[in-house]
Amino acid sequence: MSQELRAVDWTGSGIALIDQTLLPQRTDTLDVQDVDTLVDAIQRLVVRGAPAIGAAGAYGVALALLQGEREGWTDGDVRAAVARIRAARPTAVNLMVCVDRVMTRFDEGLDAVLEEAVAVQREDVAANRAMGVHGADWLLQRVGAGRPLRLLTHCNTGALATAGWGTALGVVRELHTRGLVETVYADETRPLLQGARLTAWELVQEGIPHLVQADAAAAGTILRGEVDAAIVGADRIAANGDTANKVGTVGIALACAYAGIPFLVAAPTTTVDLATATGDDIHIELRAGDEVLEWSGVRTAPAASRGHNPAFDVTPGRLVTGLVTERGVLEVSAGELPGERLK
Ligand code: MRU
Repeated sequence: MSQELRAVDWTGSGIALIDQTLLPQRTDTLDVQDVDTLVDAIQRLVVRGAPAIGAAGAYGVALALLQGEREGWTDGDVRAAVARIRAARPTAVNLMVCVDRVMTRFDEGLDAVLEEAVAVQREDVAANRAMGVHGADWLLQRVGAGRPLRLLTHCNTGALATAGWGTALGVVRELHTRGLVETVYADETRPLLQGARLTAWELVQEGIPHLVQADAAAAGTILRGEVDAAIVGADRIAANGDTANKVGTVGIALACAYAGIPFLVAAPTTTVDLATATGDDIHIELRAGDEVLEWSGVRTAPAASRGHNPAFDVTPGRLVTGLVTERGVLEVSAGELPGERLK
């Protein structure tokens, strides 16, 4: 994949989203022209990944202004539409942060709003590039320089999940450009398979050696000594380092702690929510039970069963060996807390 891949882009009259529900079978783009379609796209995970939905939300403010102009909305109607975009998913703080940032230019009109949204997108790509370098340097120093690494990741944190390049997968890509990736264990990421469908697709595009494994294989792979470090992304990081990320992440962190290998979280500072003291205060999205009761539209659980489908879990900060941001690496489990270091 070239670094030009854009999961989210402004077309001049709307938002172009790579439809991530169709990958890897099809690479279609959804042309979003109205707020209802954008909210639905965010909720159905056409666009997903904390920084990518932040960028979509940022451009969503421009979309609401344009639709308002077309349909004769009042200022209040436009603001209400923006509030719906902001609330489309509850866990990733980037959506709220990016919408709020662009809304500071709302009174200046469409050009100013678009200028801010473009800045959100550009800055995210730059942050991802910086994280890639910081994370790769840290791993080589701590895990063993000069030897290709065996890494484990969960969910999708690549170009598709961001404005470009990737967070945790950006670190993997940086290591690969240095010739230092032996293999990546990509957890399939039940129930929506962001790992098997999206991470594996990105790894194929980049020519990075990888194995897709069931989520349930991760702890065993780690405890057998087949992994040098795990690296994941985040949807919201509390001031004490507690980290909300795709469901299944906390099990990986526990296995890493037991095995004595690093568990890294890579996320831009836009994912750090200093107003949230601990992980207990993070709203975890509960998605429809059908997503775990069905497979590809076919019911797999008994008709009488109900599903439990939290989309994220919270990893305690004391299990986070390193938090990689664009500013460097904080050793959270050793006491370098985001609330103190990123103020
Ligand atoms: O439900 P998703 O696919 O939006 O969940 C995404 C994740 O949990 C990612 O790990 C996180 O957003 C970081 S993306 C760089």
